[in-house]
Amino acid sequence: MKNLKKRIQLMVLMVAVAGSALVTAQNARIKIDTDRVIGEVDKLIYGNFVEHLGRCVYGGVYEPGSPLSDEDGFRKDVLQAAKDMNVTITRYPGGNFVSNYHWLDGVGPVDERIPRMELAWARLETNEFGTNEFMKYARKMNTEPYFAVNMGTGTIEEAQRWVEYCNVKEGPYFAELRKKHGFPEPHQIKYWSLGNEMDGFWQMGHLNAEDYVKKAREAAKLMRLTSPEIKLIAAGSSNYRPDANPDAWNRTILTELRDVVDYIALHIYVGNPDNNYYNFLSTPLVCEERTKIVKGMIGEVMQNAHRPGRDPIYIAWDEYNVWYRARTDELMSGTRALEEHYNLEDALVIAGFLNVFIRNADIVKMANMAQLVNVIAPIFTNEKGMFKQTIYYPLQLFSGNAYGTSLDIFVDCETYDTDEFFIGLGEQTTRQQEVPYLDVSAVYNNGELVVNVVNRHRDKAIKADIICQTGKFTGSFEVFEVNGPDIKATNDFDREDVKTVQKDPVKSKGSIITYTFPAHSFTMLKGTVE
Ligand code: AHR
Repeated sequence: MKNLKKRIQLMVLMVAVAGSALVTAQNARIKIDTDRVIGEVDKLIYGNFVEHLGRCVYGGVYEPGSPLSDEDGFRKDVLQAAKDMNVTITRYPGGNFVSNYHWLDGVGPVDERIPRMELAWARLETNEFGTNEFMKYARKMNTEPYFAVNMGTGTIEEAQRWVEYCNVKEGPYFAELRKKHGFPEPHQIKYWSLGNEMDGFWQMGHLNAEDYVKKAREAAKLMRLTSPEIKLIAAGSSNYRPDANPDAWNRTILTELRDVVDYIALHIYVGNPDNNYYNFLSTPLVCEERTKIVKGMIGEVMQNAHRPGRDPIYIAWDEYNVWYRARTDELMSGTRALEEHYNLEDALVIAGFLNVFIRNADIVKMANMAQLVNVIAPIFTNEKGMFKQTIYYPLQLFSGNAYGTSLDIFVDCETYDTDEFFIGLGEQTTRQQEVPYLDVSAVYNNGELVVNVVNRHRDKAIKADIICQTGKFTGSFEVFEVNGPDIKATNDFDREDVKTVQKDPVKSKGSIITYTFPAHSFTMLKGTVE
């Protein structure tokens, strides 16, 4: 009897131990339901940015006389890398630069163009490269051009004349001037932003919100009367310093320009100055919070907007990236400005940003990584060649594959909390609660499914069941992974430690795919659902 009691106690204990082992070993779950639609992913979220800053234009995009350049002076290696990244839209010519740029300086015979002091980044601007050079480049790159007008030191008339130069076929003076400069057909620039970061005290000709909206509204009127089909982007918040009030800025901009603009531009730069991996990996969630706040404001102002036949206002994250190392006065001026050397953790943050844009596809309809080459950029050159930085690879994977409908997916996995930390240099602080180790987005397109997963865990692979709630997975899923030997791994001219690797395909079992996401990785799974 005594023995029997002991045996029963032992059995109960064994069941309990087995049970707890099962609980701790439970797979994470990612549930996919193709009926739960967020919105159409706009291809313009895979944009980039070319600014007259450091070696982005001169020595990056454009290096006449170099054996690596083509007949127009464009670096062929850079152009190829840009084309391979499938850049859907490219913003030009700034950035802070544009607020002291007069576009007429950059057109006409090159030997007659005059050099200017460039005050935003302390350079000499030779003006060898301007509107028409950029447009030639954009055509070669197969990218949609997106111009920013000077709302700082420029006038509304100057903005109108630039639209006339670019978009009016013939007749008025500036349209004829373009023809005289060798471009008989208009460039047809559809996207125009009304200035850059006008909320920033650092901006040449910075304005307060009230003055900005007055100027932007009148500029918009003249520009649209010149070219009615254009889309206009208002300069939303970029100043998130502790003493700034970005919400007040955005509210004024949206209220006063709600009948006029098509997008509000937001900017975000994040960093890891304290070398805290987990804090840093959560920073894209700050972008998501800000997106939701501005989406709420848009919803509010739209109720009283008069926009016959036009879409609602959307968000353009027209500058985003990791930027914190090249932030000293010295590293922010001259011809070698903003040359960040990226590592694996930066690439994972970029994948996180792209997941945010997809998860908010109903409102985020444009995004531009800042910038294309050399300046906080995925492509890096010297006079002998180039290499692809770590951040190149996630962007390339997304822009090559993630098109269709963004799905509202359910993720169940372990989470972590961050400390209070600075999002980037000079920025406000944040504290993120319950950050999921698996950061996920999914896109569905006529039976094809793309699932994007960042495993934020530094040390642990995470096994997950991807469960199809509607229909079944069919066949195998292709697997692409961006990873590297450790989180600080970088690429350089002579090595590529972080890149995309195609792994063995994973077989689906009816409505479940079980996959183990390696520590500190980004994985894209691509297959079909029926
Ligand atoms: O992309 C670098 C700079 O960051 C841009 O010129 C400016 O708009 C922002 O502050």
